[in-house]
Amino acid sequence: MTHDVIVIGSGAAGLTAALALAERVRVLVLAKGDLAGGSTAWAQGGIAAVLDAGDTFENHIRDTMVAGAGLNRLETVEFVIERAPHAIQRLVALGVPFNSEGENLHLTREGGHSHRRIVHVNDATGWAVEEALLNAARAHPNITLLPGRACIDLITGRHEERYSGSGRVWGVYALDEASGKVEAHTARATVLATGGAGRVYQFSTAPRGATGDGIAMAWRAGARVSNMEMMQFHPTCLYNLDVKNFLITEAVRGEGGHLLNPRTGHRYMLDYDERAELAPRDIVARANDSEIKRDGLDYVHLDISHMDPDFVKGHFPNIHEKLLGLGIDMTRQPIPVVPAQHYTCGGVLIDLAGRTDLPGLYAAGECTESGLHGANRLASNSLLECFVFGEAAAADILARWDSFDAPPPVRPWDESRVTDSDEEVIIKQNWTEIRRFMWNYVGIVRTTKRLERAAHRITMLTAEVEDYYGHFRVSTDLIELRNLLQCADLIVRSALRRHESRGLHYTLDYPALLPEAVDTVLVP
Ligand code: FAD
Ligand code: SIN
Repeated sequence: MTHDVIVIGSGAAGLTAALALAERVRVLVLAKGDLAGGSTAWAQGGIAAVLDAGDTFENHIRDTMVAGAGLNRLETVEFVIERAPHAIQRLVALGVPFNSEGENLHLTREGGHSHRRIVHVNDATGWAVEEALLNAARAHPNITLLPGRACIDLITGRHEERYSGSGRVWGVYALDEASGKVEAHTARATVLATGGAGRVYQFSTAPRGATGDGIAMAWRAGARVSNMEMMQFHPTCLYNLDVKNFLITEAVRGEGGHLLNPRTGHRYMLDYDERAELAPRDIVARANDSEIKRDGLDYVHLDISHMDPDFVKGHFPNIHEKLLGLGIDMTRQPIPVVPAQHYTCGGVLIDLAGRTDLPGLYAAGECTESGLHGANRLASNSLLECFVFGEAAAADILARWDSFDAPPPVRPWDESRVTDSDEEVIIKQNWTEIRRFMWNYVGIVRTTKRLERAAHRITMLTAEVEDYYGHFRVSTDLIELRNLLQCADLIVRSALRRHESRGLHYTLDYPALLPEAVDTVLVP
């Protein structure tokens, strides 16, 4: 099937791009599973933008660069932050019901921000944003939404009927998850908006589908990826044996919550950083990890019970209700929390127009490395990045539209040499193994020895998974396993290359910061 533009992913980045493109061209949006299945719908805290009279772009830029430990590209940071107020206006126009205080939007605070700067919809901002974007996309006659399509690999010159071997991207092969058939979707331009790779770790706040598919697809097609060692761990994921990945928003600390050692009751963050609970995320996550490991704890405590109960319930109605259902009343008792993987700072290298290395391929959102986050993302800067780059990619495609050729005929997906799997246990076993060793060897605190151990396991598993992939029909689980493994490889290779501790990459073998901040760029 041929379309004008294909957007892969229906989160904040994909839907923003689709809505902007649909003003002039026809857009097909493909999504694995449900349309609202990405991280966007799970976002809690909000979106960072300079909207307060006492705040400035310079402040937001500085906070972003400080959190990013200087690895950010200043040009990108300025580009995004200066467009933030406009992005919020567009969301308001789409009907996102941000909390307000009189005439103004209410601004909450999160770690690393020197001002109140986060617009939000209670403690469930992402859901409100996803709903507004989806409503607008559903109503647009130029947008076709196709959920239940797991994209496998990009279509390039290698797949043309008259083989050209060029890196030009013409669309994607996608598995129809209901019928099990693989379809070739072609277009003049393709936008990757597939989100992060958080599920490469055993503990993650991200939804199940965050398996780095877009990063792996772009890499296999020949695009460079950058800074994959910069995996962000959120300091406060709920510790609960049944509910594994429920986030407790950073805004709980922003509105006065304290971190306490459950054994001593000591408020320990001041021992680690003068900004205490509002230090950037890498510092707070390492402090929590260190308390837990030093004292052999299962968790630390996040306590906001000293605040007025109505204030707590008013600010965090969803978290309050969820915790009550688990027997925890956050207005009266502390919440047990642990660090968990949260955000993929690295990804497919893009420029300010969302262009990747490959002609015809654009990318936006968490699957990219745009230069905004550097070595550690500042809280609530990621939804913002999705809106700004979704729009930028669409604008560049429309501006160059006349120079994009129509896609040539391409070869259909070849299933002639595969059969149905009789050993699906391999998928489950390998998936569990990858996530365990990534957590234990490539986590918050790293060493070269542990990274080498992980690299060794990746080599062995890659041979096994590629053999399996070559013999059996694809399923979503198999596609995800292959991509998880690819991303694990990119993360470990990048981590082994960085001989310093900067931002999220902290290694006992190279504890010092090098004088110059240099991106880790991997070339396929
Ligand atoms: P996503 O929203 O993750 O969407 C990815 C899309 O790609 C999905 O539609 C998925 O189905 C599709 N997809 C993936 N693989 C394939 C494939 N192979 N084939 C077809 N489709 C595919 N950021 C903030 O700025 N503020 C916050 O308050 C905040 N809170 C967060 C809370 C949680 C619990 C989490 C996990 C993240 C939070 N973040 C927050 C981060 C932010 O939510 C994400 O970075 C952002 O939503 C990513 O948007 P995206 O459009 O890039 O990807
Ligand atoms: C949170 O609400 O703590 C998450 C914010 C973010 O990831 O930006």
